[in-house]
Amino acid sequence: MAEKPSYFITTPIYYVNAAPHLGTAYSTIVADVQARFRRAMGYDVRFLTGMDEHGQKVAEAAAAHDMTPQEWCDSQAPLFKDLWAELEISNDDFIRTTEGRQRAAVQYLWERMRESGYLYKGSYDGWYCVPDETFFTDTQVAKANEGHEGADHLCPDCHRPLERVQEESWFFKLSAFQDRLLELYEEHPEFVQPSFRMNEVKSFVAGGLNDLSVSRNTFDWGIPVPFDEGHVTYVWFDALLNYMTAVGYGVDEPAAQAEFARRWPAQAHIVGKDIIRFHCVIWPAMLMAIGEALPERVFAHGFLMVRNEETGKGEKMSKSRGNAIAPREVIDLLGVEGYRYYFMTDVVPGMDGAISFSRMRQVYNADLANSWGNLISRSLNMSAKYFDGLAPARPSDASAHPNPLAEIADGIVDRYAAKMSAFAFGEGASEVMELIRAANRYIEDSEPWALAKDPARADELAFVIYNLLEAIRISAHLLVPFMPETSAEALRRISCADEAGADDLAAACAWGGLAGGTPVEKGEALFPRLEEN
Ligand code: MSP
Repeated sequence: MAEKPSYFITTPIYYVNAAPHLGTAYSTIVADVQARFRRAMGYDVRFLTGMDEHGQKVAEAAAAHDMTPQEWCDSQAPLFKDLWAELEISNDDFIRTTEGRQRAAVQYLWERMRESGYLYKGSYDGWYCVPDETFFTDTQVAKANEGHEGADHLCPDCHRPLERVQEESWFFKLSAFQDRLLELYEEHPEFVQPSFRMNEVKSFVAGGLNDLSVSRNTFDWGIPVPFDEGHVTYVWFDALLNYMTAVGYGVDEPAAQAEFARRWPAQAHIVGKDIIRFHCVIWPAMLMAIGEALPERVFAHGFLMVRNEETGKGEKMSKSRGNAIAPREVIDLLGVEGYRYYFMTDVVPGMDGAISFSRMRQVYNADLANSWGNLISRSLNMSAKYFDGLAPARPSDASAHPNPLAEIADGIVDRYAAKMSAFAFGEGASEVMELIRAANRYIEDSEPWALAKDPARADELAFVIYNLLEAIRISAHLLVPFMPETSAEALRRISCADEAGADDLAAACAWGGLAGGTPVEKGEALFPRLEEN
């Protein structure tokens, strides 16, 4: 059998200055849905997430809690790991930048950078935004604050106060990569997605690039520069490398080298729109400098916005505005799978998305309680009732009666896969909801309860119920990336438990896969209806 193609997907690694919130969970679930979809499509997936533990911001958070930075990071790691486990994140690896493998890889990178000729020593005199861990020049800051009296020391991105930094530093010659980056964007327009983000990246690069300060020597919470005592690695120079560290970069050992050859370059980096420049400008330039392959694409999602009930406007969810919603609140309301389904289908990945509890209830009730859950409970109920606890056997002639569900299911995997692979998760789910809604209508139209009263129409009844179960089986497969557990449960209830985890979606979803004649279990409602208020 041919080897499965590799699909390496990553999330940003999260700063450990505070517990994970809906926004960080959002990036992680986007990556998880894509990872699960790719596994179902027959890829050999490697899914990486982790924590970004160095830098001034984390050091300050630790100090505020009277801990050493390492103690603080260790205390936070379970918060991330436990939340990801609860949200059914299927990552294969969890990297922490304080691990030995990252230190070794970053130090290896320093040596390669030095050899490349794109590194030089100088001194930095400019602004630094600690919350964003970003350097800004006087010109950038002045331009951003033009016309804002008294606001001349605020971050151009997040508008929080900047720090003045004057220190000796190693510089990465980012300015030398302007032309090569512009060529990359021309030749690989798919490198940045969605495509409208590309314009922002291009115009940033076209405007000219400054060399980047990549070491700090006024504080010590970072990976030491191997050839210059007193210097630690700038946190982004360290963090970006995590993607390669995790697949064996720089390890002088055959197994690691084979892994690196197989996994690198990554197929997709998932990031928020706020960190696009790091991933689409600095990261490819770093890779060009050391002669490594570039990731195939960077997918940038938007921000979760909360509707301000007073103004009716959406505003970015953040701790400082006091409008952040904790994942727990949503899990308590919708359950984990309802949570995943809602965020992945109602927020368009790529765009900012307004979220609200009332909308959550609405989507949950419409799609999960009234459509998917309802279809399962009605169909399994009728099957158990009319066929003595079993599924009817596969009809010998699938076209004996009109079969609207088989028609919709025809080609559904192609339509769904085209959307899912482009991160259009809401549209992918709509393909499935179309089948589910049609199946609910089919119940109304074919009136199995009336057929059951007429022995002469027993075949027709078996035909209808079989089709409903088949629609459920196919829908369950297609919903796996969003709701793995309820999909597995739906398959189990129709005696198809062994199909869960299928890695050939087209084969799994071919109409007529259900043999029938096997037990059907009614079970509890999978998605109990929620009160609207
Ligand atoms: N540590 C860096 C990433 C390094 S990757 C080599 C970082 N960490 S972060 O914890 O601040 O943010 C991680 C991700 O969470 C970002 O991609 C960001 O967009 C996302 N979110 C944070 N708040 C968000 C919302 N309100 N909505 C959606 N996602 C947002 O940046």
